[in-house]
Amino acid sequence: MPLKDTYILPAAADMHVHLRNAPGPIAALVAPTIRPAGIDTVFVMPNLAPKPVTSVDEAVEYKKALERYAPDVGYLMSLYLHESVTVEDIRRAKQNGVYGVKVYPRGATTNSQWGVISLDQFDPILRAMEEEGIVLNLHGEVPSDAASGVTCMNAEEKFLPVLKELAGKYPRLKIVLEHCTTKKAVETVRGLGENVAGTITAHHLSLLVDDWSANVHHYCKPSAKTPEDRRALLEAVVTSNGKFFLGTDSAPHDITAKKGKGNHAAGVFTQPFALGYVLHSLELALQRGDLTPAQITDEALAGFFSDYGRKFYGLPPATRKIKLIRDAAQIPESLKGENGTEIVPFLAGGRIWGVEW
Ligand code: NCD
Ligand code: DOR
Ligand code: ZN
Ligand code: ZN
Repeated sequence: MPLKDTYILPAAADMHVHLRNAPGPIAALVAPTIRPAGIDTVFVMPNLAPKPVTSVDEAVEYKKALERYAPDVGYLMSLYLHESVTVEDIRRAKQNGVYGVKVYPRGATTNSQWGVISLDQFDPILRAMEEEGIVLNLHGEVPSDAASGVTCMNAEEKFLPVLKELAGKYPRLKIVLEHCTTKKAVETVRGLGENVAGTITAHHLSLLVDDWSANVHHYCKPSAKTPEDRRALLEAVVTSNGKFFLGTDSAPHDITAKKGKGNHAAGVFTQPFALGYVLHSLELALQRGDLTPAQITDEALAGFFSDYGRKFYGLPPATRKIKLIRDAAQIPESLKGENGTEIVPFLAGGRIWGVEW
């Protein structure tokens, strides 16, 4: 039995998105796709270049610029953990729309060159976050290092001791292990207290290592892993009970950054069809026998897409409903914007679930 042809669900919250610099051509192109995708709230990543968002004032400016592109979205802002972040920033974060602080282990991913080497020096910041209810968002990978045997395939697993240590040291700090990609990560998040949750992307519910090794548009960090890992992520979506919620890690890069000379940029662009990609992945999982039809309930979908993320961030439930309709949307070959900007979406050219408000 496949999925139903339509679902009526609460408007979604996407708790991990990259919108890039604003004003800027990528943000101009991507921000207006959020609401039509059935999403009214996004948690916005701070890893801008040439300078990440490291102060409340910068986050406020960034939010205003995003609102000019798409005013009908609730933008939850974040700071990039850096030595220039102050305790004062944390104290005034929430009243200024800043909900989280993201840790980028230095060298682990895109624009992580300003990131953290050790969290020890940030103890006063982490204590203040605990008091103020500001979320700690972890890019949960250690940098690849051949000498110690770290590659993109085990970088997340090697990070899990850091998560456990943080959860033990700061028992009231809200912590999100972002973009979980492994069975071990899912098990670790499940085993920790209510203050710890994980986000799961749409694309990691489909992709495996072979997919991105062959297609640059499927390459991201953390990279997709094994069938067993994918199955654990699919199960986490439908048995979440609040522990796991949607964070697409939609990561737009211009086609020249994906296809140019030298290293490819990491990131899968999923923003405009985010919910459809998840449903599509769940349906493929049914076909493979990774999930059973009885597991995919409206309650599980509503929780994963909308309720659990909002609750974790201390927001009220969605007030509006959306309708998801099988095959109602056509994924373009690319999205084109100002100054020749061109972004290739996930599963370009295919048909996917559409959204009505
Ligand atoms: C962004 C851009 O080009 O606008 N970079 C990118 O996609 N590689 C800027 C940014 O990283 O924020
Ligand atoms: O694939 C990714 N892309 N992973 C990240 O952690 C960063 C992101 C980006 O900014 O493009
Ligand atoms: Zn990340
Ligand atoms: Zn990300």
